[in-house]
Amino acid sequence: MLVHGTIHPQQPELARSPTREVSTLTLVRPDDWHLHVRDDDALDVVVPHSAACFGRALIMPNLRPPITTTVQALAYRERILAKVPPGLAFEPLMSLYLTDNTPPDEIDLAKASGVVIAAKLYPAGATTHAEFGVSAVDLIHPVLERMEKLGLVLCVHGESIAPDVDIFDRERVFVEKTLSPLVRHFPGLKIVFEHITTAEAAQFVRVSGANVAATVTAHHLFYNRNALFAGGVRPHFYCLPVLKRESHRQALLQAVCSGNPRFFLGTDSAPHTARTKETACGCAGCYTAPLALGLYAEAFEAEGALDRLEAFASLNGAAFYGLPPNEDKITLRRESWKVPASYDYCGDKLIPLRAGGAVAWKLAGDV
Ligand code: NCD
Ligand code: ZN
Repeated sequence: MLVHGTIHPQQPELARSPTREVSTLTLVRPDDWHLHVRDDDALDVVVPHSAACFGRALIMPNLRPPITTTVQALAYRERILAKVPPGLAFEPLMSLYLTDNTPPDEIDLAKASGVVIAAKLYPAGATTHAEFGVSAVDLIHPVLERMEKLGLVLCVHGESIAPDVDIFDRERVFVEKTLSPLVRHFPGLKIVFEHITTAEAAQFVRVSGANVAATVTAHHLFYNRNALFAGGVRPHFYCLPVLKRESHRQALLQAVCSGNPRFFLGTDSAPHTARTKETACGCAGCYTAPLALGLYAEAFEAEGALDRLEAFASLNGAAFYGLPPNEDKITLRRESWKVPASYDYCGDKLIPLRAGGAVAWKLAGDV
């Protein structure tokens, strides 16, 4: 990674001081290892935002109905590719949505496709469009065995669905009750613990073997749960797993800035119409695609760790998935820009995170 300007030399784990006066950052083009782009008209709006910055993205399968087969995933991939603006080379990588009834042979088809690189475990009802998810992990053991054998990655939405578990404890309880036993039972299964939000999740990944990694979103690195209630209810900060208290945000920052290669970028950018967010029972999901990289840069910079951003954003995820890094580079400039108040979206508005606010880092070439 090229860092232009003054930067402190590489320092050992966590003993870092604020970076000063860095004005541009050139990095291998990053990938987004956790992205929702929806379908149909939504693709027109959101695909160009991700394609402007990221080389590849792992597309989440939680459409309604969900993407449960390789045939569906390949057709969905074509619909996404059709919306990539000319001149950009954005590659959607696909995932399957696991249900109680996924046949193990579907995993063979996924693996053979070369572009379906993961299958996603949504505990039933845990999040947006998760109602077709897995009601008990034991039910999919034959599928997980096949994934372990063939080397297909399991992506996990790691939250307990037990109704008596406090929403702020769902991730921690999932680690104890579900993920730890699963990792023990399938020691060769590659697992990505998606969008981790707690110190317990970061610690679990840290002490696990090379087969367990995690994605971390920009918003969980930058905001704590106070953002949800700053002067009133803020629906555009509501996502699942929900934002946590400050000590957890600090633990996530430590994890991503530590240089551990098993933490990498996954924005979990999740568009919803304004109408479905700003209502009595609003949808979970933050739309961050247009500003995510700038937000990550702000978070790493505040930790004096801009020199660790490239590995997190552009190298670690590809290595975990067994793919080469992108060949081209991008440049981020320190130049404040204003996030649009909204985008036209599916006959309504799409309100991005930090709408109308400023982001300190801008992708060179963006207008
Ligand atoms: C996601 C969505 O809207 O699809 N929502 C969210 O709050 N993150 C689903 C998910 O990843 O949990
Ligand atoms: Zn998601």
